[in-house]
Amino acid sequence: MTTQWVKPPEGSWTEHYPELGTGPISFRDSISPEFYALERDAVFTRAWLNLCRVEELPEVGSYLTKDIEVTNSSLILVHGEDGRIRAFHNQCRHRGAKVADGSGREPELVCARSGWRYALDGTLRHVPNQDSYFDFDTADYGLVPVHCDVWAGFVFVNLDAQPRQTLREFLGPMVTGLDDYPFGTLTERYDWVAHNNSNWKIFADAFQEYYHVPSLHTQQVPAEVRNPAAGFTCGHFQLDGPHRLVSTAGTRRWLLAPEYMYPIERATQSGLVGPWRTPDIGDLPAGLNPGGIEPWGISNFQIFPNLEILIYGGWYLLYRYWPTSHNTHRFEAYTYFHPARTVRERIEHEVAAVVLKEFALQDAGMLGGTQAALEYDVVDEFPVNDQEILVRHLHKVTLDWVQEYQNR
Ligand SMILES: [Fe+2]
Repeated sequence: MTTQWVKPPEGSWTEHYPELGTGPISFRDSISPEFYALERDAVFTRAWLNLCRVEELPEVGSYLTKDIEVTNSSLILVHGEDGRIRAFHNQCRHRGAKVADGSGREPELVCARSGWRYALDGTLRHVPNQDSYFDFDTADYGLVPVHCDVWAGFVFVNLDAQPRQTLREFLGPMVTGLDDYPFGTLTERYDWVAHNNSNWKIFADAFQEYYHVPSLHTQQVPAEVRNPAAGFTCGHFQLDGPHRLVSTAGTRRWLLAPEYMYPIERATQSGLVGPWRTPDIGDLPAGLNPGGIEPWGISNFQIFPNLEILIYGGWYLLYRYWPTSHNTHRFEAYTYFHPARTVRERIEHEVAAVVLKEFALQDAGMLGGTQAALEYDVVDEFPVNDQEILVRHLHKVTLDWVQEYQNR
């Protein structure tokens, strides 16, 4: 069996983007409390951040709250009577209590402490004993809104007072090339959360390159990939503004080799590459495989700063990396499938979700040691190879955003 690796467009992938340079890079941005404070203001307060999908707010009155530690925010997202999803700071205008916690469905939002009642569009509707206030007008005390917009069913917020770009402008043509992917039909979801002892970028990096796969995931990859002499490389890398994409070729054919699988994968015909058969979900958008790889395997969209959408054709993974300090983060992982039509399909989905979780936890298991070693601060120049172009890009873009913010 021979493999046709796709070659870079000219020179190398990295040299195709001259602004990246080719020198060693520093990971000081991942060990510095001072840099973390700058990231909070320069990146997480100014970028569009994905908090959930529209399926989590299905009906008029559906709401959910999200805490964003890095920006010191608690937000509430609400499905309004006009069908729009809005975001507000989760704070009652009467002495500041949280208006809600968790998720649910209500005709209006009622603060448990004050009894103040807010309409689904955030306007203050009712105040107990309103006559006892002084010069009081409910019009002055609605919930504080946050910029909120939806792309392809992904609900984003922007905490900047005046976002510099619309959500669509921010996402740019490479990401919006997924406009026609049927995210809305893949609604069977499995999720889990990990609290990891590393800077958020260190974990994002683990899914930005496949260079480490033959070494770290020895049990999960076939011989063709595992053999260092095989020269396993990815098929296509692409950058667009602050966002990144990597596609791999032909994985499904290799991964159906039996020698590395768990027995449960063979028994259920599902696992690391998902269900071996998925229903026809129609023509996939060209933007899913912009490198034109044949046979195409997966495409991994890294949407700046902290969202990753990894599409395997008829199902997808979603990761979010939420910083909680300069050396910790909360990792949210989701697996999305079509709603199971049979018991067999349900089992296929559950097996895939569990095997994928193990795969991700193999990467997570490296984080504490990596972070600690970086903090020993012995070495500050690390060579980054052409297959790690996305690692180079994430750290450069983050630094660019911080420097641009400092220069203003
Ligand atoms: Fe990995």
